[in-house]
Amino acid sequence: MLAPPAPPEAATRVGAPATATRPEPQRLAETVQGRVAVVTGGATGLGRSTALEFAQRGVAVAINYVDLPDRDVAAQALLTETALRAHGVPVYCARCDVRHRDEVEKFVTAVRERLGGVHYLVNNAGVTHDGALWRLTPEAWQEVLDTNVTGAFNCIQAVAGPMRAQRYGKIVNVASHQAFRPGFGIANYAASKAGLVGLTKSAAVDLGPSNINVNAVAPGFVKTELLGKLPREVLERAEHESVLGRVAEPEDVARVITFLCSEAARHITGQVIVVDGGLTLAS
Ligand SMILES: NC(=O)c1ccc[n+]([C@@H]2O[C@H](COP(=O)([O-])OP(=O)(O)OC[C@H]3O[C@@H](n4cnc5c(N)ncnc54)[C@H](O)[C@@H]3O)[C@@H](O)[C@H]2O)c1
Repeated sequence: MLAPPAPPEAATRVGAPATATRPEPQRLAETVQGRVAVVTGGATGLGRSTALEFAQRGVAVAINYVDLPDRDVAAQALLTETALRAHGVPVYCARCDVRHRDEVEKFVTAVRERLGGVHYLVNNAGVTHDGALWRLTPEAWQEVLDTNVTGAFNCIQAVAGPMRAQRYGKIVNVASHQAFRPGFGIANYAASKAGLVGLTKSAAVDLGPSNINVNAVAPGFVKTELLGKLPREVLERAEHESVLGRVAEPEDVARVITFLCSEAARHITGQVIVVDGGLTLAS
């Protein structure tokens, strides 16, 4: 004869103090104490917003920038630095041109010395230099490719050593919906952002075994000064064509970037997250 089944576990606990079986409360907040983020082109626009998102979460932040024609980026860098410090996190801000490998290496070395490491890299620095394909000068082509692709490559290479050594890192590249659906007169920009998507996937393959995630975001139009260069009707059309009926605020994209750097996204790598309000669905 089979032995009678053992009493259910709960029965053995009858009379035990209620606290004995209560599960530990789940800890939802991940530890970001001591973590350091580098946001290139972090003085303005989307980079600024991303840097602030990190700072709000207690992450130390380093930003770099270059001056741009007709814009006082240095003054904006100072304002951004002050806004970041107001969150009580360590901050490092310096002029550094991502096109120049030696400047990037010096910058990353300074970040590690001053902030104690590097855990997140957001390749946000980017430029446009639009013109009909038959009128694009070699300089306009080169400047955009050098900044948007080679600049990101220089930064990835500079952080790859320390990230591989610590077997931890998150890299997010800021591409664009124009990589997939270019408008008129942006052959250089579209090629650069498509190149950045290829770099994202390739870096994900090379760095994945070292526990480093590499992803990209592809924003639609975002309300920054860069957008101010576009004709008003292009913006109105973008608002109209987006299925959500709006153009993104910088925070709409910045929060996706910080999500990709979080442990909630630890199994996502080599992907491009389109953040365009459905713009690319609509045509
Ligand atoms: N605004 C949009 O609609 C939109 C849409 C899709 C993608 N993006 C991308 O988002 C990123 C941020 O753009 P934004 O709209 O905030 O524009 P922005 O012009 O305000 O920001 C670009 C920043 O990059 C920095 N930068 C430029 N060249 C650099 C270099 N060689 N070295 C270091 N820093 C350099 C500038 O100092 C500037 O602060 C860019 O990569 C852009 O292509 C923007």
